Amino acid sequence: MSVEDSRLVILPKFTDGRGDLSFVESNIHIPFEIRRVYYLYNVPEGEGRGHHGHRKLQQLILPVSGSFNVLLNDGKNTKEYELNRPNIGLYVPPGMWRELTNFTTDAVCIVLASEYYDENDYFRDYDEFINYTKERL
Ligand code: TYD
Repeated sequence: MSVEDSRLVILPKFTDGRGDLSFVESNIHIPFEIRRVYYLYNVPEGEGRGHHGHRKLQQLILPVSGSFNVLLNDGKNTKEYELNRPNIGLYVPPGMWRELTNFTTDAVCIVLASEYYDENDYFRDYDEFINYTKERL
């Protein structure tokens, strides 16, 4: 997998006088079954999240409020996205290092994940991640 396998996913949006409604369905808008949902909020100005890699995990990262940046790194190339629309998420394929930065104070980041929480899936150390991506080639 490479950063070129990541992509923005434009979700359906129903707008009427009562506001907007968007939704995500497993295996339709995203190529995986959702096993877990977590969310980041109250991120202080200047703080970042992530700074870790994953082996297997696939995710859809959604800026349901505010905006933030996501930098993906496959060990060779990087790609940065700015997420700022609640109906446009970022699909993150397996094997990516990710860094989330530039959170606005109102930002809420919901993450739909393909796996249950598993610390063994994480690379907390950047050099370890880079070695893994080299072995993968
Ligand atoms: P961490 O991986 O540092 O968050 P981020 O992805 O924003 O960098 O997770 C913070 C803590 O929350 C850490 O102790 C692990 C725990 N955690 C869970 O228990 N379940 C989860 O689904 C997630 C994402 C984290």
